[in-house]
Amino acid sequence: MSAQPVTVVDHPLVQHKLTIMRKADTATSKFRHLLKEIAHLLCYEVLRDLELERIEIETPIETMMAPRLEGKKLCFVSILRAGNGLLDGMLDLVPSARVGHIGLYRDPETLKPVEYYLKLPEHRDERLFIVVDPMLATGNSAVAAIERLREAGATNIKFVCLLAAPEGIETFQKALPDVPIFTASIDRELNDHGYIMPGLGDAGDRMYGTK
Ligand code: URA
Repeated sequence: MSAQPVTVVDHPLVQHKLTIMRKADTATSKFRHLLKEIAHLLCYEVLRDLELERIEIETPIETMMAPRLEGKKLCFVSILRAGNGLLDGMLDLVPSARVGHIGLYRDPETLKPVEYYLKLPEHRDERLFIVVDPMLATGNSAVAAIERLREAGATNIKFVCLLAAPEGIETFQKALPDVPIFTASIDRELNDHGYIMPGLGDAGDRMYGTK
């Protein structure tokens, strides 16, 4: 099976905001604000194929058949903790969406993900799941999170990140060829510590002012 494409959302507004986020001297509050704004624009792209139905409404002038979103509610799934920054922006656009959380930490020795938390809504086989994590670095966390979601019954899944490393994309597409990736940038490579280069550092630390 050939892998689903990677969609790079290269709109000038996204690229401009991302440049400010990358700068080491950008303050925490500004970083969070920009991440939320970029999440709006990524959300717009990842939901482009949502199905619409027609309902009859009254405008002040006449009756019309108007489009509205159909079907079961979406579910955004945040990979903790940095996923929450993207999640906030997504929820601004779709406030009625359900929200799931998955907690994975990266073992510093093996760089492999270890699960410590999972909470998801019901009716999983009827929902579109949008899994969010700002950094697709090794790809191990994203793959583990999505495989776990599948075990839990999710069938329709898309993945959104802010930055992706080529190594992470390769791992992801090998394991999950049917899951499309949406990102604002494909960066150059990973360093020996699993950080994306040029990247923006540790997304969680930059969002929350930790070290
Ligand atoms: N996680 C981050 O927060 N940053 C990276 O560069 C890689 C993984």
